[in-house]
Amino acid sequence: MTRIGVFDSGVGGLSVVAELMAQLPAQPLIYVADQANAPYGQRSLAEIRELSHGITRFLLSRGAHVIVIACNTASAAALHWLRKQYPGVPFVGMEPAVKPAAERTRSRHVGVMATQATFQGELFASLISRFGADVTVHTQVCPALVPLVEAGELATDRARAAVASYVTPLIDAGVDELVLGCTHYPFLRPLIEAVAGPGVEIIDPAPAVARQVGRVLAHHNAQGAVEGMRYDFYTTGDPATFTRSLRELLRLSHPAKQAAWTPRGLQISQI
Ligand code: DGL
Repeated sequence: MTRIGVFDSGVGGLSVVAELMAQLPAQPLIYVADQANAPYGQRSLAEIRELSHGITRFLLSRGAHVIVIACNTASAAALHWLRKQYPGVPFVGMEPAVKPAAERTRSRHVGVMATQATFQGELFASLISRFGADVTVHTQVCPALVPLVEAGELATDRARAAVASYVTPLIDAGVDELVLGCTHYPFLRPLIEAVAGPGVEIIDPAPAVARQVGRVLAHHNAQGAVEGMRYDFYTTGDPATFTRSLRELLRLSHPAKQAAWTPRGLQISQI
């Protein structure tokens, strides 16, 4: 069975993994959280591309046949480039869901929450030029949210205040469609909904991305037994902390393993 490789700067990609597990429950996967370098959002596109390349090489060397970039920031920086480098490997990336938001808005005002790097990439510019012509797209960089989710602060006063500071200006601008353009943000969805109110639709692209992975797998049915465990989770940060995140965010009791950046690239740590 084809093994999929999934990566993100940290725990955000687990919002995509939750959908993958729901839609493709038997699917083996390897996940890399590059928590040693998180957050990616304020790094340069060149830096993010290099990190994404290193992780892709690691995932391919561990038997992944399909790569899911469960990170809008890494997709913005590296998806196009990685597809060119590895023409035989199917990549599924994330992009802010501007298209469905533009189709559904009645107020003609759409809000997009994402990282600075995501807004700087060509991918976002092309989304705006293709789908943003008839609507006003309000962009909101949310630098405090990724560190809060990484720290497991999903319902604290600090998280509530940070979410309010980012979402309120969008609501005041009249948006009725709010796009979660970073895979960490779905974990703050209850707080985002509380500020946005019932008249605003929140769009998380994770279910659509999981459906796309299902379609790609149907076309790419590489056979062969998968050795070892069905799930492998690696972090370049602290495995004990990531194991706790798996329990809290996915309700999955599973030990995370250590990976480390070395001069030869990303490697499984012997420690
Ligand atoms: N989950 C990443 C994304 O979707 C977070 C980026 C970051 O590390 O800043 O953009």
